[in-house]
Amino acid sequence: MTKINNIKEQNIVDLAKSLLFEKLLVRLDGQFVGASAAISKKSHNFHLDKDLNYGEIFIRDNVPVMIYLLVDGKYEIVRHFLDSCLQLQSIEFQTRGIFPTSFTDVDNHLIADYGQKAIGRVCSVDATLWWPILAYIYVQRTGDEVWAIKKEVQIGLQRFLELILHPQFRDSPTLYVPDGAFMIDRPMDVWGNPLEIQTLLYASLSGAASLIKMDLEQKDSTQSNDFTEIQRHQFNYATAWLKRLRRYLLTHYWVNNQTIQVLRRRPTEEYGASIANEYNIQIETIPHWLQDWLGDNGGYLIGNIRTGRPDFRFFTLGNCLGAIFDIISPLQQRSLFALFLRNRRSLFAQMPLRICHPPLESKDWRLITGFDRKNLPWCYHNGGHWPCLLWFFVLALLRYQNHCDGLSINVSDSFEELLEESYQVFLVRLPQQQWAEYFDGPTGIWIGQQARVYQAWTIAGFLLVHHLLKVNPSDSSIMDLPKLSALKLN
Ligand code: GLC
Repeated sequence: MTKINNIKEQNIVDLAKSLLFEKLLVRLDGQFVGASAAISKKSHNFHLDKDLNYGEIFIRDNVPVMIYLLVDGKYEIVRHFLDSCLQLQSIEFQTRGIFPTSFTDVDNHLIADYGQKAIGRVCSVDATLWWPILAYIYVQRTGDEVWAIKKEVQIGLQRFLELILHPQFRDSPTLYVPDGAFMIDRPMDVWGNPLEIQTLLYASLSGAASLIKMDLEQKDSTQSNDFTEIQRHQFNYATAWLKRLRRYLLTHYWVNNQTIQVLRRRPTEEYGASIANEYNIQIETIPHWLQDWLGDNGGYLIGNIRTGRPDFRFFTLGNCLGAIFDIISPLQQRSLFALFLRNRRSLFAQMPLRICHPPLESKDWRLITGFDRKNLPWCYHNGGHWPCLLWFFVLALLRYQNHCDGLSINVSDSFEELLEESYQVFLVRLPQQQWAEYFDGPTGIWIGQQARVYQAWTIAGFLLVHHLLKVNPSDSSIMDLPKLSALKLN
């Protein structure tokens, strides 16, 4: 691929910035409240059917937008976005504590969609989990503890934790959700305990606990009342939960060549408290493609654990988040990056990165997706390629390299080349293909059959890749969570 020269590169970066600031960010009462998912079709010549809800402000699509605004020093926009989401946190009996999937401005009022309008009525758990994470990242970056200890923020955190930390039928520390509760918001057999939700749960408990700690620590002990009692209780409960969750994910989700061989030799039909095969998983559920996918050194977190029905598919975002939030250890991160490199042709291909691997095909596609034509094999969520995912990988890899100098991966030349090639693909193809939402086919060379164009997270994702690789790699620490040892009350 021919390399784009510096002047052209700068023009593309400037173009992306102007699309974000001038076309995507939405103003209400003179202040930005977030970016719409895509630029409306009315403003460009692209003939598809309706815009559906792509003009709305999705919390998940705004994650890269907000992280970019933070590294760009636009703190007030991020704070205003967080405040706007907080105003929309549900206080209804059945959904109390939930943040909306998306919201939109109707006659100068923000109207939320908690799933009651979404296609297929899926509920968006990830948006709810992202809010405390983004709130924590904002406070870490800006030092704005005054915002963190505001009554409204602390009440919002309390409502969020009430939603998560309550008695349930199950004893395992994962959050059990229906199909399509996150970025993959259509039936894809991602119900139960999908990885992305668990990694977000971990980070949201950690972020929420840290923000509560800030509040408790600036009050003196004489200020104890019902509210602070609940704060203390939730803090202790959340930190205990996240520690259990991490152990659980490492035990049940992490696989490599060695762990698979242990899994393959476990007995089945066991009963009792200490057994080897808790979820009664049969050897036939372990797919053959795994052998080549893992190789000698690769490792990753599998997609889901359910009684008798593990999901060995590789989900890119959940794995990147597992590394970014240090759920997996530095050595495991090394194996994860080795796996990315080994499967470069699949995951990066001609448009990084593939959302999950392998796709559901034939009978599985028919039964599991319910004949979903948007999710045909190699399309959209079902093995499609999403440029908005690359920045997560770049951030995970750079922070690994910064934090774990002593554990040099030994393949850093290959990674440098991989990152540079991916960046060049973006520079050449994204402006050409109008910053499309996703790409189809095993190599990702075709624009997604139903892809929207001028998509906010494609544009913000590109700006973050550029920022992390070319402007300030040390910003790869922006999503660092507090160390577990710091999560203690004085
Ligand atoms: C689609 C995607 C979802 C995204 C939304 C807005 O519904 O599946 O992940 O948030 O579009 O871009």
